[in-house]
Amino acid sequence: MAEPLGAGSARSAVITGASRGLGFASATHLYRCGWQVVAAMRSVDTGMARLRTATGAGDDDPRLIGVPLDLTDTESIAACAKAIEESIGAPFALVHNAGISSVGMVEETPLSLWEKMFATNIFGPVALTRALLPGMRKAGRGRIVLVSSQAGVRGMPSTAPYSAVKGALERWGEAMAAEVAPFGIGVSVLVTGTYDTEIITDAGTNDCRDLDGTYARHHRTMDKRGRAAMRIAARAPEKFAAGLARALDSGKPFDKRAVGPDARMLLLANRFLPPTVMHQMTRLMMGIPRFGGLARREDTEHA
Ligand SMILES: NC(=O)c1ccc[n+]([C@@H]2O[C@H](COP(=O)([O-])OP(=O)(O)OC[C@H]3O[C@@H](n4cnc5c(N)ncnc54)[C@H](OP(=O)(O)O)[C@@H]3O)[C@@H](O)[C@H]2O)c1
Repeated sequence: MAEPLGAGSARSAVITGASRGLGFASATHLYRCGWQVVAAMRSVDTGMARLRTATGAGDDDPRLIGVPLDLTDTESIAACAKAIEESIGAPFALVHNAGISSVGMVEETPLSLWEKMFATNIFGPVALTRALLPGMRKAGRGRIVLVSSQAGVRGMPSTAPYSAVKGALERWGEAMAAEVAPFGIGVSVLVTGTYDTEIITDAGTNDCRDLDGTYARHHRTMDKRGRAAMRIAARAPEKFAAGLARALDSGKPFDKRAVGPDARMLLLANRFLPPTVMHQMTRLMMGIPRFGGLARREDTEHA
């Protein structure tokens, strides 16, 4: 077990996917704010070396601990939970940040990617939560944070598996919040805006697009208006980390909040506009042809 920090000193937070991107920025920020950080990641050696450089923490610093975690591997999840409990006991916060994304239409995306999406973004996080909840319940306090996305608020075209998994993540969080609140554990859903990490690049996502195929017309405008605009609008990951730190101070049993102005706008629009209007707005923003615009009538096809 890491050197005890003493009652009432640092609160502890487990952050998954702390090797890079938003998880890395969050681990760095929380450490600087005085938290005890458990950085869970697939490549502990390289990830921890980078985190120590960013934070200035020494190898034996009890406020920065690295644990191996592959969310698609049941044994790795069990070993990770054990390592966490052996080093710090029950964590105060469990931040489910790690995740993968996809780009491509439903027809273009193989089922195997849907399976990987749900294994990484839902089944792994649920398993880790199940392993850590008994200790957190006994401690009688804590917060479980689910990092969602604008794609979890509304299904977004060309990323159906990601939209579906983030929607599922939010429903899981809502259900669990009512279960664990009586034990003093809160649940936060962070509807995350656009941040400058690898996940928003073509190389950092699971790219299934067939740019010359049936959906070429969609991809052409979606790429220009959607993905390119996303890269321009993206904010620094450090801004997300500051938002996460504020969310960890919530005293609410269930807290759903936007992190970033674009996410705030979407939540507002989705609250006040009917689904058909949201559909048309998405279509127009992405430059997708109108209803029936690409339909080929059977009689013409066989003529
Ligand atoms: N950036 C945005 O604009 C944005 C917007 C909305 C929501 N989000 C959400 O924010 C979270 C973090 O994303 P990011 O932007 O930081 O993306 P990122 O830079 O691609 O980082 C993803 C992280 O997840 C980890 N990961 C992937 N598969 C894993 C697995 N099987 N087991 C354990 N860890 C795994 C990666 O670890 P490795 O280094 O080992 O690959 C990496 O640390 C995700 O849940 C994402 O959906 C991001």
